[in-house]
Amino acid sequence: MSDTASRLRLELAEKIGSARWRKALDLVPRERFLGEAVYQCDKTRGDLWAPLRRANMPEDEWLALAYADETWVTQVAGVMAEGATGTVTGQPGSSSTLPSLVIRMLEAAEIEEGDKVLEIGTGTGYSTTLMCQRLGNEAVTSIEYDSVVAARARDAIIGAGYAPTLAVGDGLYGCEENAPYDRLIATCSVRTIPHAWMQQVRAGGTITVPIWGWMGGVAFAHLRMAGDGTATGPFLEDSLYFMTARSHLPPPRPPLVRGIGDARKTRIDPSILQGGAARWVAQLAVPQAQVSWGADATFLVDVGTGSRAEAQADPAGGWRVLQHGRVRLWDAVEEAIETWQEAGQPHQSGFGLTVTPEGQSVWLGTPDGPTWELPA
Ligand SMILES: C[S@@+](CC[C@H](N)C(=O)[O-])C[C@H]1O[C@@H](n2cnc3c(N)ncnc32)[C@H](O)[C@@H]1O
Repeated sequence: MSDTASRLRLELAEKIGSARWRKALDLVPRERFLGEAVYQCDKTRGDLWAPLRRANMPEDEWLALAYADETWVTQVAGVMAEGATGTVTGQPGSSSTLPSLVIRMLEAAEIEEGDKVLEIGTGTGYSTTLMCQRLGNEAVTSIEYDSVVAARARDAIIGAGYAPTLAVGDGLYGCEENAPYDRLIATCSVRTIPHAWMQQVRAGGTITVPIWGWMGGVAFAHLRMAGDGTATGPFLEDSLYFMTARSHLPPPRPPLVRGIGDARKTRIDPSILQGGAARWVAQLAVPQAQVSWGADATFLVDVGTGSRAEAQADPAGGWRVLQHGRVRLWDAVEEAIETWQEAGQPHQSGFGLTVTPEGQSVWLGTPDGPTWELPA
């Protein structure tokens, strides 16, 4: 192992500053998990990705890249960076998340020595290996959806000298093999808490996962299992987010259709939905809807029913909305936003989530406050 890699690793660990995970950060060589290439995003176009190859740069430059506190995308549109013959267009499918964010996740999950952990989303295997280093191989199980990503992670983890339980499959079904777990963490975001997770975490154990919805609203859940098969907890202050679980991605958004529907005045400024907490609230009200912005208007569309809303400033003052279709999207959003405004416009951490076999209720303030159901 090179002196440069060791020095950069210690510097990164120092910068991240986590006492609990310091030794693991000092010892796990991130460069092994990046393989031979990563993608760099074109600054002018968010969906265009060029491979950066280890072989095409001085070793010190590659190591500096590996120990930068940055996310490195390793797969786009199903193509691994190593296999890319040129620029690739599409969405990232896998990455090595920036180390400080991985540590925020592990810290939020309150993982301690002696805990048995299930990780959803092995990715490159870097976070899996940090856990193996601290907790021991027997304590760590990780599942990855994509078999190519999983095989690469397996090689990297074993190559680094670790041996957790590694599974390939849809992590939304958990991994029964080593259940029950003390901690379940997901390094991919979900729309709703999968039923299987509730069955595979012991009473008193925790599920830590970012909730992400089709409007892009995010809240970071840390739920504790009660003995009766339910789980509850307030959302955390850290609004961290990982790429969405593949099975929870939104359907393609249909083209915009402007100027249709019934018109009325609206009491809320549509641009409010650009803020993180407001978007989270709107998403609670219309979880099947997707949002987009034009130069002068905010658009909602519910792909399932074809319902739409178009809201914008009214030249006569205030704002107005056009609503089309069976689901009155804006009515629901307006009501939820006003409820949130009356409560003082709290951050997502002012909400909590209770999951039972019957449903998944997000509550505002306390469990007996205003509630919304996450999608089934
Ligand atoms: C942000 S990456 C994980 C980062 C990783 N823990 C690391 O340290 O490199 C998210 C990963 O979750 C995986 N994933 C997405 N949906 C999944 C699912 N339903 N089950 C298991 N893995 C999933 C993706 O394929 C991707 O590799």
